[in-house]
Amino acid sequence: MGMFADRMSQVSVSATLKVAAEAERLRRAGHSVVDFSAGEPDFPTPEHVKAAGKAAIDANFTRYTAAAGIPELREAICARYKRDYGVDITAAEVLLTVGGKQALFNTALALFNPGDEVITHAPYWPTIPEQVKLVGAIPVIVPTSSTDGFRVSAEAVIAAITPKTKAIILNSPGNPTGALIDEPVVAAIAEEAARRDIWVVVDLCYEQLIYEKVPHNLPKALFDRHRARSLLARATARAHLTLCALRSSRLIVGL
Ligand SMILES: Cc1ncc(COP(=O)(O)O)c(C=O)c1O
Repeated sequence: MGMFADRMSQVSVSATLKVAAEAERLRRAGHSVVDFSAGEPDFPTPEHVKAAGKAAIDANFTRYTAAAGIPELREAICARYKRDYGVDITAAEVLLTVGGKQALFNTALALFNPGDEVITHAPYWPTIPEQVKLVGAIPVIVPTSSTDGFRVSAEAVIAAITPKTKAIILNSPGNPTGALIDEPVVAAIAEEAARRDIWVVVDLCYEQLIYEKVPHNLPKALFDRHRARSLLARATARAHLTLCALRSSRLIVGL
């Protein structure tokens, strides 16, 4: 009998953290290192966010909240999706997590059975296929190429679908390439997924870091075609939408 659960043998150590450790080792050895591994903004948490967090603690806003999140925050998220994307969602469709990683992990636990295939595109953020493996599902990787800017093609994703496909996970802007997925590509994938009852998960973690004016309304491209089995995952700190976990409750401190 192994000491750990069998599922632990399914996952690999974090390549990102390996690179970060190597960068730290080189730095300590006196080298000048530019570290592209773990990503974090190069500025501190904004003052108004810190102030709101402190004020909430002083007001004893530190108790358990509804598991799905504070109702006012869920309503605020619906309002933001309406304002920024023109999509109608209800608070009942919003679940708060303590970050994008937990949102994706909860998704994997809730949706994927052992043996299910889950399609995503490479190069990828290593967590995406690892979380799929952790729940016993099988990542199916659609490669992209540097020669065309790591473009995700709808045809390649659709060609990877088999009768075992349970979901397609798309990440735009993509980590680590920064490549954007075009709205018509998401629309085509959503249409095919709708026909075949496949979930589409879109990770928009870095959406606030698009610096050119380009069309990127992926929520609408998805919801207009495939409302029933669509899932959007948003990360927090990167989007200046800072959620702060206090005593396992969820507290919004900046919107
Ligand atoms: C593509 C992608 N999605 C989600 C996340 C997770 O975000 P969070 O820090 O909010 O858990 C990351 C973090 O690196 C990421 O790169």
